[in-house]
Amino acid sequence: MTVLLNDTFLRALLRQPVDYTPVWLMRQAGRYLPEYRATRSRAGSFLQLCQNTELATEVTLQPLDRFDLDAAILFSDILTVPDAMGLGLHFVEGEGPKFAHPLQDEEAVRRLQVPDMNKLQYVFEAVKSIRLALDGRVPLIGFSGSPFTLACYMVEGGGSRDFRLLKTMMYKRPELLHHILTTNAEAVTLYLNEQIEAGAQVVQIFDTWGGILSDACFVEYDLFYLRQVISGLKRHVHGRQVPVVLFTKGGGLWLEKLAQSGADALGTDWTINLHQARERVGHQVALQGNLDPFALFGTKELIDSEVKRLLTDYGHGSGHVFNLGHGINQHTDPEQIKYLIDAVHRLSPKFHTS
Ligand code: CP3
Repeated sequence: MTVLLNDTFLRALLRQPVDYTPVWLMRQAGRYLPEYRATRSRAGSFLQLCQNTELATEVTLQPLDRFDLDAAILFSDILTVPDAMGLGLHFVEGEGPKFAHPLQDEEAVRRLQVPDMNKLQYVFEAVKSIRLALDGRVPLIGFSGSPFTLACYMVEGGGSRDFRLLKTMMYKRPELLHHILTTNAEAVTLYLNEQIEAGAQVVQIFDTWGGILSDACFVEYDLFYLRQVISGLKRHVHGRQVPVVLFTKGGGLWLEKLAQSGADALGTDWTINLHQARERVGHQVALQGNLDPFALFGTKELIDSEVKRLLTDYGHGSGHVFNLGHGINQHTDPEQIKYLIDAVHRLSPKFHTS
């Protein structure tokens, strides 16, 4: 059993004392790094990269070799689960993900089943391999999409500007959408538990599209299934506690409800103020976020002042994990990322003196 050399991230998620504010960034492994683009072209495609244990391990560690990050995140994608359900995932250059067999009629929905986890073995192999390669440097985050966010892609057949097909199903045939969500919730629970068994030390649920819903629909179609997943997760494995992070983009209005989902920490986009968020839910959960990814296109002085602002907003004491409010944009300069991470480490210790 390797010793974890840097547990600052785990401690912050559990609101235990830390010496500085830990930082990792959503999409820290990705196209903004030239070494990522080189490995992806060796793999052939993004999906082949996800399925190649050795290369998926390599790209997971690339940002850690460049920057002083406090966590690693499994290199994979949320859409591996619907792919294993037989929807036929492929990526069209410049257009993002597409499904060959989206769920657009009753028959397709009725056929949907929880996939055999053996089809996702490549993900669990990647988790094991990354843990070995990390050798205790920092904790490894596993992840999944939320049942609702996966359903968005499964019904639309890809990304969407207005989610017309998904919302039509929701208002016209709610029982079909509930069938998809029930199946997804079961699949996501199994999938995350397998990642935990394979060695993921934290899991994050990406609820990227929760924010498109009305208040009432959010409770019925998203939160209900999030709670179901979280209550089914293995939280104590081989003597270690596995914290759960829930990131609902656009979920700032629902912080109190999200804080009662059973998650240990909430990811926040840039629309909320961390001081107000902490007042609302900081006694229940840790908070992760919430820099606008485009702040990285500003000057170094701007980055410094944004870091100071976020640290000051959260205030003194543990329970904050510094992150962006959404993934790194592919046109970001890696030097700016380095500057940001070092700024968090330079400016945060004074918020943790006792
Ligand atoms: O954060 C990390 O470094 C870990 C890897 C990771 C990826 N996708 C790699 C990826 C994670 C955690 C995800 C999650 C994911 N995937 C989400 C939720 C988070 C979010 O961004 O909202 C979603 C919605 C997806 C689905 C997805 N995958 C889309 C919409 C796209 C295309 C958009 C884009 O940025 O091109 C992807 C592709 C994808 N996933 C890439 C990467 C590095 C780019 C693929 C490439 O190399 O060409």
